[in-house]
Amino acid sequence: GALGVTGGLGLLMPGPKGQTGTLLTSQLPLPPKFASPLPVPPEARPSGGRYELTAHTVEREILPGRRTRILSYGGSFPAPTIRARRGQPLDLLLRNELDVETVIHLHGGRTPPESDGYPTDVVLPPSGQVPHHLMAGDITTGQRTYHYPLDQRAATLWYHDHTMDYTAPNVYFGMAGFFLIGDDEEDALPLPGGDRELPLMICDRAFDADGQFRYPAISPERRVPGVTEPYMGGVLGDVILVNGAPWPEHQVSATRYRLRLLNASNARRYELDLGMPMVQIGTDGGLLEQPMERRTVTLAPAERADVIVDFSAAPVGTRVTMHNRLGDGGTAEVMRFHVVRHEPDDTEIPQRLSTIEPLDPGKVSAVRDIRFRLTRPPGGGQHGGHHGASQDSGMRWTVNDQVFDPEVSLAEPGLGDTEIWRFSTDVHHPVHLHLVHMQVLSRNGGNPRKDDRGWKDTVDLIPGETCEVLTRFDGYRGRYVFHCHNLEHEDMAMMANFTVT
Ligand code: C2O
Ligand code: CU
Repeated sequence: GALGVTGGLGLLMPGPKGQTGTLLTSQLPLPPKFASPLPVPPEARPSGGRYELTAHTVEREILPGRRTRILSYGGSFPAPTIRARRGQPLDLLLRNELDVETVIHLHGGRTPPESDGYPTDVVLPPSGQVPHHLMAGDITTGQRTYHYPLDQRAATLWYHDHTMDYTAPNVYFGMAGFFLIGDDEEDALPLPGGDRELPLMICDRAFDADGQFRYPAISPERRVPGVTEPYMGGVLGDVILVNGAPWPEHQVSATRYRLRLLNASNARRYELDLGMPMVQIGTDGGLLEQPMERRTVTLAPAERADVIVDFSAAPVGTRVTMHNRLGDGGTAEVMRFHVVRHEPDDTEIPQRLSTIEPLDPGKVSAVRDIRFRLTRPPGGGQHGGHHGASQDSGMRWTVNDQVFDPEVSLAEPGLGDTEIWRFSTDVHHPVHLHLVHMQVLSRNGGNPRKDDRGWKDTVDLIPGETCEVLTRFDGYRGRYVFHCHNLEHEDMAMMANFTVT
């Protein structure tokens, strides 16, 4: 078969420097580093009390002098930033003018199931036919409105495509943006704001000879199903984009900045190092209780870190490079700051940021073992019958030895139940639960890592690790997914349902 036992074991070999995946190289000379200014994504504006986004294909300049075709929300890459407030529900109308189906998931959102972007709840293009493998979904044609109650604390969320089997290429081709929730508690803190608050979406890409995004076996127009075998472990690119620009540079004043870091890569992990202290104030689920000084911050796909950097520690004229300790060659650098002027700074980092209610391990009503691994599931693990690359060998990315089946739930917690989920893993798998946020209890029976503090919606599992998390299934009843956020693994069906009953 195309992916024999050897291929399967190959996927279990540790990747380059803390990565799982295969490097796809660009077929043109790479752009010079630090030559592009850092773009700031446009902000979405509500109209008639709701936000509207049209998904359509556009061309944008990403590499100097080249036009790259992107699948966009609202014409930009990254997609427009949506700024929302805690407790102020928001409606988002998605119009699909692509020629393929799409669905939006608000990552980190506490959203009722019908608006959560379940992978088969797709919006078809106006003339679309229902693809066979999506028949069971709640399908709309042309458009759909998502209702977000936003009864949740201030946090750096993001929204992205979540189409069954095609999330990886759709996100890779551009379908992701920031969704920032603010609240009064956060507003009361003297943190940097305005143009000293920078959302930074970091992702890697490869380009073909025409300057188009390069992705295995797939182009935006066609649907060649499946990730090809060598990339089943994940797609790693050789160009690092921040807010859609290659290795950009940003001019800053010698003051404090708030960087909302998001790893929007399909498979690549980062250990970010500015060569100067960062003070982490928040994670996936919003503010920490107390600021935490960091030398480096590690981000697996989908993780966020909210950090304060004080550029007054560097003399005016200094260039401060953000390195990636998990990168090689080009991917060892991310972007650069250029400290160009003095400015007054009345910001502070308070010693107390917020309050986090610790979930009580004494109130746990179930402990579940959840295994993320590559295996040959019983019965061949057919999944829609169209994952060409892996069908030959039967090797699959599985959750508890099963591939995703929309009809099966691996867990049925009661509404309000607190549970311990004990994740175990073979290679790197960033594990993401929809609806709920988690508190990391232990790693390999010992203490959690610094990166685990606060509320998490995605947990970075490293090879061979066991990680216990506590979570409470409150909010809404219904069916949700949890999955590996290595998007190639997710598309290869490393996903499962839980149903809150
Ligand atoms: Cu960010 Cu289910 O995804
Ligand atoms: Cu994975």
